[in-house]
Amino acid sequence: KKKIAVMTSGGDSPGMNVAVRAVVRAGIYYGCDVYTVYEGYEGLLRGGDMLHKMGWADVRGWLSEGGTLIGTARCLAFKERVGMKKAAANLIEKGIDALIVCGGDGSLTGADLFRSLWPGLVEELVSEGRFTPAQVAQYRSLTIVGLVGSIDNDMSGTDSTIGAYSALERICEMVDYIHATAKSHSRAFIVEVMGRHCGWLALMAGIATAADYIFIPERAAEPDKWREDLKSVCKRHKNKGRRNITVIVAEGALDKDLKPITSEEVKDTLVEMGLDTRITTLGHVQRGGTAVAHDRWLATLQGVDAVKAVLEMTPDTPSPLIGILENKIIRMPLMESVKLTKEVATAIEAKDFDKAISLRDTEFIE
Ligand code: F6P
Repeated sequence: KKKIAVMTSGGDSPGMNVAVRAVVRAGIYYGCDVYTVYEGYEGLLRGGDMLHKMGWADVRGWLSEGGTLIGTARCLAFKERVGMKKAAANLIEKGIDALIVCGGDGSLTGADLFRSLWPGLVEELVSEGRFTPAQVAQYRSLTIVGLVGSIDNDMSGTDSTIGAYSALERICEMVDYIHATAKSHSRAFIVEVMGRHCGWLALMAGIATAADYIFIPERAAEPDKWREDLKSVCKRHKNKGRRNITVIVAEGALDKDLKPITSEEVKDTLVEMGLDTRITTLGHVQRGGTAVAHDRWLATLQGVDAVKAVLEMTPDTPSPLIGILENKIIRMPLMESVKLTKEVATAIEAKDFDKAISLRDTEFIE
């Protein structure tokens, strides 16, 4: 009987529980034993009860639970070979040789590295006498499948990541609330949103709430000109009779000299033009709460496909990442996708903003 473990890793995102639920139920449906790993890689290292065999009913109600019920952690010890060896021993002990990881690019890179080191780790465990060759005979390779759980929507090759639309929805709701008070006082508001190095949340929220101005890293502002431009846009909108002004700033926003654009600076600029201005940093409310319908079906379809991928893979198949492109669930090579995602950051550092955007749009369909 195939034994699969599923875990969540890195920052939580709405829909992670839905993905785990789908893996558990699809796994059981296809005749596998499914284990959840508590606390991300930390749990793999600790082993024992941290790997918990799941039944069909154990995930009842998980569609509408926010965060990740099996916990997540950023585990430094797993990055070391000795940590990975402990994790390998714990998995073999339970007879598990397939791992489905739902997380961001860092967590997925770690998983792929674990897979490439696995045969050597198993050899070492045998030579140290921890297992006999017969005990590890059927665990010569580790299957890894990735699901992207992140509110940032920053993974190249996939249209949306699990949690991004939920965070977007929350931001829009909050901006609508802010509009009410802003209009009452004829005030300007700067709303700072998450997204790390990616401006997707800021851009989409700005479009959906008719923001007056949006700052994102991929369209870096002109260092000498953005203040004047911001003032002239806001003045134009005010002259048309708009009572409130909303500026959305992505937390990773930059100018073309790669200097971060801060909410404070934006505020100073609006105050200079006489606007009564406040800053609202939305913070972790963007990550909490339940998943919207989009993320629920995305995580469900992707979770099911992750199990199918595990059952179809051979030791030579490159680790896949389950994505979505033009409404179709797709499998893309995990490491290529992660590599492209990292190249976006490098392109931004090299001030090649057009390249950054095109890399993010790269598709893996031949
Ligand atoms: O990657 C998700 C994210 O929420 C980013 O948007 C944000 O920069 C970061 O995580 C915040 O991390 P933490 O929860 O560690 O403060």
